[in-house]
Amino acid sequence: MTFPRPFSTARLGLAAGVCAALALVAGTVAQSPTPAPVTDNRDAVYVGEAVCIACHQTQNNQFTHTQHANVFRLNPKNEKEKLSCEACHGPGSNHLKDPASPANRGALVGFTREWGTPVAKQNSMCLSCHEGGQRMFWAGSTHGTNELSCSDCHNPMAKLSAGGLLKKPTINETCYTCHQQQRAEFAKRSHMPLPEGKMTCADCHNPHGSTTKAMLKSDSINELCYNCHTEKRGPFLWEHAPVRENCLTCHNAHGSNHDKLLTVARPFSCQQCHSNAAGHQSNLYNAGQTVGGGAAISSRVLGRTCQNCHSQIHGSNHPSGARFQR
Ligand code: HEC
Ligand code: HEC
Ligand code: HEC
Ligand code: HEC
Ligand code: HEC
Ligand code: HEC
Ligand code: HEC
Ligand code: HEC
Ligand code: HEC
Ligand code: HEC
Repeated sequence: MTFPRPFSTARLGLAAGVCAALALVAGTVAQSPTPAPVTDNRDAVYVGEAVCIACHQTQNNQFTHTQHANVFRLNPKNEKEKLSCEACHGPGSNHLKDPASPANRGALVGFTREWGTPVAKQNSMCLSCHEGGQRMFWAGSTHGTNELSCSDCHNPMAKLSAGGLLKKPTINETCYTCHQQQRAEFAKRSHMPLPEGKMTCADCHNPHGSTTKAMLKSDSINELCYNCHTEKRGPFLWEHAPVRENCLTCHNAHGSNHDKLLTVARPFSCQQCHSNAAGHQSNLYNAGQTVGGGAAISSRVLGRTCQNCHSQIHGSNHPSGARFQR
């Protein structure tokens, strides 16, 4: 028999013929072939959840309401899922020898910061079942490389959220525990309807990583926006170059204190690029024509300013829409 992973507990255990001994302990099974880093706990064996529950009744009472508990207990798909507690916390026999001693913490995979299990080890426990899918790009993601653990967002020990086993009742609250600046952005006068409960951070971001900057769920910013604002995709007879290039040239993605999530107040938003002094694009806004300036106020600084006339600013399909007025 070959040993692709020399110190894999299960393989050594089985090869050494201690199966009989292991079988004495309820729930004992071979570990999945997923590579586990070598730890000083490699002689440990699985003892079964009944043993754990004897001491951890409180935790078990809460765990019972979770999806893991249901699947692992009622409908396990494989041997690994039958391990229950130990599928995540690892084989527990050495933990039992001296559970309260800080010196013995290496005997168990703990997911709280105090316990001290390295983050990579913690995550490998979860990823042994949840690799791929949405977590395809976890390893290179901003969260992954910043050493976040799965349990920074998830708490599988209790049902605290409607779905996703999150550690807060909602996705947004979970993200806000670290992203205070974004909480402020969504509180601005004009914002994506996230505080209203119409969307979540996970509509635009994959917190487990993606191939796009800022862990976006689409290949580009515009593709992301088109998902919901399909009418902006076009095609248009008359394209407005900056719209095709990047929606965020004019809009903030989260929120802004200017209307329609604009990055800059109108008309300056347009005048950043269109400031031909000879045309009407910039020279109509002298002091006399602004509110309180004394002279008749220019219609071009009121209401939607440039959009009073250039209303189809994202592109036009009208034969004479070259100036986006129709
Ligand atoms: C004899 C009683 C006893 C048994 C049996 C027992 N534990 Fe513990 N366990 C403890 C005690 C006591 C602590 C507290 C240690 C501390 O706070 O320093 C603890 C701590 C833990 C922790 C805390 C980790 C953290 O992050 O704080 C986990 C997880 C855990 N046990 C899981 C298990 C699992 C899984 C089993 C079954 C394999 C198990 N325990 C069996 C007594 C027990
Ligand atoms: C799906 C993986 C998973 C399973 C299954 C699991 N745990 Fe946990 N456990 C965790 C994570 C993650 C944490 C850290 C939660 C947190 O952030 O507070 C944890 C925390 C704990 C703690 C210490 C913190 C606390 O809540 O008091 C104990 C004790 C514990 N688990 C025992 C158990 C027992 C007993 C079982 C089986 C009945 C079990 N766990 C099943 C993942 C799991
Ligand atoms: C033994 C395999 C296994 C391990 C280890 C495991 N899970 Fe799971 N997990 C499952 C199964 C099975 C489901 C049920 C849904 C499914 O079939 O995908 C599930 C579901 C989930 C869900 C979705 C819950 C929902 O209500 O939508 C989350 C989130 C999750 N697991 C996170 C974790 C985290 C975090 C860890 C590590 C602390 C972990 N899992 C460890 C097998 C596992
Ligand atoms: C930054 C926060 C965050 C971190 C870190 C995180 N998750 Fe998640 N996870 C989420 C959110 C939010 C959802 C719910 C997404 C939804 O409902 O659209 C989710 C959903 C899931 C699901 C259920 C949906 C699915 O993909 O099947 C699983 C399983 C899961 N996460 C596993 C993990 C594992 C494993 C890790 C660690 C490698 C991890 N997560 C790290 C935030 C996080
Ligand atoms: C435990 C803290 C923590 C939680 C919780 C958390 N994040 Fe992060 N997030 C970070 C850190 C650390 C970074 C990287 C440093 C930075 O840019 O602030 C980051 C960066 C990001 C980035 C920028 C990525 C990039 O490549 O520029 C996005 C997007 C993000 N997080 C989304 C989320 C979402 C969505 C959630 C909730 C599902 C979430 N985060 C929850 C800690 C967290
Ligand atoms: C409507 C889509 C959308 C929603 C909803 C959304 N984001 Fe973003 N977010 C983006 C885009 C697009 C970027 C990229 C900005 C860039 O490239 O300049 C971004 C960037 C980020 C960044 C990187 C830093 C920055 O501001 O550029 C973080 C962190 C972040 N988002 C967190 C969050 C959190 C947390 C939530 C939920 C509270 C959230 N986002 C909701 C689209 C969204
Ligand atoms: C998951 C769907 C979704 C995605 C993705 C999305 N939006 Fe939105 N957006 C909405 C919804 C819903 C509203 C609110 C519409 C309403 O209340 O009438 C909105 C509102 C807006 C508004 C303000 C409209 C107003 O009348 O104040 C702007 C501007 C906007 N989105 C731009 C963007 C940009 C730019 C992107 C890409 C970064 C984007 N959206 C991505 C769903 C989405
Ligand atoms: C050149 C600047 C600019 C760019 C680039 C831009 N927008 Fe806008 N957008 C505006 C202005 C100005 C308004 C306000 C229009 C009005 O008042 O009639 C607006 C309004 C909106 C609205 C709300 C009103 C409506 O028309 O539905 C949405 C949604 C929106 N933009 C989405 C997008 C998306 C998606 C992109 C990228 C494909 C994008 N915008 C690119 C300037 C821009
Ligand atoms: C990031 C720079 C940028 C911003 C901001 C911008 N535009 Fe443009 N706009 C362009 C470019 C580039 C063209 C194409 C010019 C060309 O084809 O000669 C264009 C074309 C136009 C045209 C057609 C002009 C022509 O000569 O065909 C109009 C009208 C226009 N923009 C109005 C606006 C208005 C109104 C705003 C504010 C909502 C705005 N633009 C914001 C860059 C910008
Ligand atoms: C009262 C209506 C009106 C308002 C308000 C208005 N425009 Fe125009 N704009 C026009 C008309 C009409 C044309 C077409 C002129 C032509 O075809 O010769 C035009 C043409 C343009 C052009 C094409 C090049 C040029 O100068 O002829 C640009 C760029 C432009 N406008 C930008 C803007 C910007 C930026 C604003 C806001 C600061 C603005 N416009 C406000 C009516 C308006």
